[in-house]
Amino acid sequence: MKRMLSGIKPTGQLHLGNYIGALSHFVESQEEFEMIAFIANLHCITVPLEPSELQKNLHDCVALYLACGLDPKKSTIFLQTDVKEHAQLGFIMCCHTYLGELNRMTQFKDKQAKGESNLSGGLYTYPTLMAADILLYDADYVPVGEDQKQHVELTRDVAIRMNHRYGDLFKVPEPLIPKVGARIMSLTEPDKKMSKSDETNKGCIYLLDPLEIARKKVMGSVTDSLAKVHYDPELQPGISNLLQILSSLSNNRPIGEIEQEFEGKGYGDFKRAVADVVCAKLEVIQTEYNRITSSDLIETTLQEGAKKAQILAAKKLAQVQQAIGMEIIPKE
Ligand code: TYM
Repeated sequence: MKRMLSGIKPTGQLHLGNYIGALSHFVESQEEFEMIAFIANLHCITVPLEPSELQKNLHDCVALYLACGLDPKKSTIFLQTDVKEHAQLGFIMCCHTYLGELNRMTQFKDKQAKGESNLSGGLYTYPTLMAADILLYDADYVPVGEDQKQHVELTRDVAIRMNHRYGDLFKVPEPLIPKVGARIMSLTEPDKKMSKSDETNKGCIYLLDPLEIARKKVMGSVTDSLAKVHYDPELQPGISNLLQILSSLSNNRPIGEIEQEFEGKGYGDFKRAVADVVCAKLEVIQTEYNRITSSDLIETTLQEGAKKAQILAAKKLAQVQQAIGMEIIPKE
């Protein structure tokens, strides 16, 4: 059975972009693949966060994994720091990545270009930790949104380089990017990605937003004056974004079919239809979230998941250290 691995870094609350671009695909994949889904808490500390806020985000992230349908019986779900091999292989990956490669990572460059001050060294090197996250488990596929594609490509490059130098150590993974919904945009600034760090809070729908707030955000989303529901990300970025959301949340209904349904109708009707599917989805997720947070499922899931992941990770790390010549006494 092919293995799939992915993670989310809850530096903020999970949003609809995370769900459509990534989490919903983890859930689908667990039926067909061996799914490993972790919570990237080491990645979270690449940006400053209040400890209490970080802890709440991590807790909610696990609860939302489960509420969205990840099943601990089918998938391995764990907290990154519960498997210490991530940090250790991360350093090894860092030592096999060139500065020139890190300098090309657009996420870091974008933050730098915005003039954000005091960016951490961890933020700069984090793609190498991500490479370790993936390569530790010999993942075949990595389901991610568009913004993470470059990091998976770097992972492939480093894996190929190390395989070449030390013999076949790693499986070279492939990114899996959804055709629709790989880059959900902000509702207020549809030229920017929907993001956890949305400052106005109006462009981002959080999975735990009260339903009436989520509805207001959709109804208040920025559109255009062309008055037709048509998919054209250049000319109609707001409408195209809503089309992607509607299509993704209604079992990948073809966008052309939705365009036809709304031919001759106003944007108000269209937005109401989008708000309806968004609220229906959030309602199901939130009902599950409430059930899960009042049970001991989070604890048992993380304990079981870490145990399973640790076995795989320890084996791979020992193999890597041995191949590099770092061990004196063989571990296996
Ligand atoms: P993160 O936490 O920023 O995002 C988690 C997942 O959500 C996707 N995503 C989106 N998809 C569509 N539209 C959006 N607006 C949107 N925003 C986010 C991301 O592409 C991602 O798939 N570095 C990763 C976490 C990570 C990881 C890994 C992922 C750490 N190690 C190993 C895969 C494999 C990150 O910061 O994702």
